[in-house]
Amino acid sequence: MEFREVVRRRRMVRRYADKPVDPAVVDRLLEHAIRAPSAGFSQGWAFLRLDTPADVARFWRSTSPDPDASNPWLDGMRTAPVVIVPLTDKGAYLDRYAQPDKGWTDRSEERWPVPYWYVDAGMASLLILLTAVDEELGACFFGIPGSRVDAFRDEFGIPDSHRPVGALTIGHRIDDAGSSGSPSRRVRIGTDEVVHRGRWRNRE
Ligand SMILES: Cc1cc2nc3c(=O)[nH]c(=O)nc-3n(C[C@H](O)[C@H](O)[C@H](O)COP(=O)(O)O)c2cc1C
Repeated sequence: MEFREVVRRRRMVRRYADKPVDPAVVDRLLEHAIRAPSAGFSQGWAFLRLDTPADVARFWRSTSPDPDASNPWLDGMRTAPVVIVPLTDKGAYLDRYAQPDKGWTDRSEERWPVPYWYVDAGMASLLILLTAVDEELGACFFGIPGSRVDAFRDEFGIPDSHRPVGALTIGHRIDDAGSSGSPSRRVRIGTDEVVHRGRWRNRE
């Protein structure tokens, strides 16, 4: 698939076909994730791979306020055979930038223009999303509710050093699945509105 076609076809898929994903494909999603750029080549990311029905069920049990809850979003997302949770290790960034070639030895977070530990995990997540399209799969990035992060940590033994930045469902697309989510209610804002060439211009 042409790269521009991959980009154009990418959209969040929130319901999946009842068909397993080849483990070799999941390997490739993760191999591409770690090709993402990272600040100072810190690579302070980690990925929890859940690709058995039992593990995926544990994910939804631990992250849902009511494990028996049923709603269109949850019922659709639960059909995904694979969940990947990207995690970030802020300490790895503070350590890396305290090294001699960076020199931020006080490890102060005040120095950071923005928290690169989230930026990098987002870049890695986007590579998973794009690779899923290239592999003819669908995927969705979504947030883990803040109130459920501790339960998620306990369930999967996540150390305090690492924080989940969200999660991705992955599976085979259902061809006739209609568009869902915000793009079915909101329009994509065009480049004419978001790109400011040469200098900032306010728009009516
Ligand atoms: C940081 C982030 C958090 C998101 N959280 C959720 C979420 O919790 N649930 C969900 O269904 N979609 C979530 N999305 C997907 C967005 O709703 C989606 O990307 C947006 O509506 C544009 O649609 P598209 O990706 O299909 O083009 C999230 C996306 C990002 C980048």
